[in-house]
Amino acid sequence: MPNFITDSIDKPPLPFSSGGCDFLWGVSSKSSDYIMTRCGGEEFFIQIKGKNNSFLVKGEKISRPSQVIFLQRALEEYAKNASCNIITSNITPASNRSKVKNPIIKQIDFFAQNFTFDKEIFLEIGFGSGRHLLHQAKNNPDKLIIGIEIHKPSIEQAAKQCDILGLKNVVLIDYDSRILMEFLRSNSLSKIFIHFPVPWDKKPHRRVISPYFVDEALRVLKVGGTLELRTDSDMYYAYSLDVFMQNQRCDIRICKNFDLEISSKYEDRWKRLEKNIYDITLTNIQPHPQISPLSRLDFDFLNNIDKIAREFSPKLFRGDDFFVHFEEMHASGERVVIKTAFGAYERAEHMFIIIEADKISYFPNGAYALKANKKAHEIIKKWLNG
Ligand SMILES: C[S@@+](CC[C@H](N)C(=O)[O-])C[C@H]1O[C@@H](n2cnc3c(N)ncnc32)[C@H](O)[C@@H]1O
Repeated sequence: MPNFITDSIDKPPLPFSSGGCDFLWGVSSKSSDYIMTRCGGEEFFIQIKGKNNSFLVKGEKISRPSQVIFLQRALEEYAKNASCNIITSNITPASNRSKVKNPIIKQIDFFAQNFTFDKEIFLEIGFGSGRHLLHQAKNNPDKLIIGIEIHKPSIEQAAKQCDILGLKNVVLIDYDSRILMEFLRSNSLSKIFIHFPVPWDKKPHRRVISPYFVDEALRVLKVGGTLELRTDSDMYYAYSLDVFMQNQRCDIRICKNFDLEISSKYEDRWKRLEKNIYDITLTNIQPHPQISPLSRLDFDFLNNIDKIAREFSPKLFRGDDFFVHFEEMHASGERVVIKTAFGAYERAEHMFIIIEADKISYFPNGAYALKANKKAHEIIKKWLNG
């Protein structure tokens, strides 16, 4: 992640604009400052942390843009305006960077707004280097291929490859696939690919496949649509088969050591090590009722900023199937920014709540009315109301 360390910083008054970036406002805690920054149409926080007579300046993790170029540009512009004396930096020189926002990369709002498409849809979860995704896109120009990844550099890389190859039938999203499912219409996908998911043997709650995920996958698949899992992990294979078998009526096929038309980087490595590779294909055999498009979770009241700033302390609320964690607070006279995690235990949302004199909002994406989020939102509202 781009960052630099400087031994001096003269924080300029906000707001100011420079080199196509807007530095809008700031909030502080004992350990760091956040600066709300807009660049390339994206909004994110730059974080400044004091560190042994020097300062680390970087992109804040939750709000970091999918395209790192905008963060790099913002850091450079901030450094110039704050008269920084940079000691170390890993920012790519501007001349090596593309300047435009890649329209292939979408935000979650794109899916929340009653997303429908007249093409058949394939979804690839955790596409990594993108070899399989690009192969599907090249060979199925009449279909829309949606790729979802949580690793931002993989998204940028795949987006660049789509440009180079002139692929117009790809949409990429930087989001947790376990949360995305509730956004998708029932009976709308033809295929879901999950190739070599991280097995998470020591933290199984982080696995993509879970009973909840499989129910959602079957709901969004058309009748005859397939969920295709490919893995080299004996444990993940056995675990997934068990989860698939929990369905009352199901069509499951298993293959061992079959080659596909395209082999991913991971697969090449496992093949060299002569590991077994398992495919499990789960076919949806029945239609599912439609769901309503998800609405945004909003606040219909205002808060006393000073009171919140004075009284904040970290807090964890645990419900049966959801939680809310108020983690830390940054504040200025005009705003309070609270870092939170909330939602379902096994697929939490990480967001900020921004409290201003005339509005309260979730940042960066806005929160949507997923089942667990709705319960968490009620707790958040009660807590904000004291
Ligand atoms: C082991 S790699 C496999 C990559 C690729 N499918 C392949 O076959 O080479 C697993 C990928 O899944 C991504 N990933 C892990 N959890 C995810 C999640 N919840 N949603 C989306 N992507 C995820 C990781 O960032 C990583 O790129």
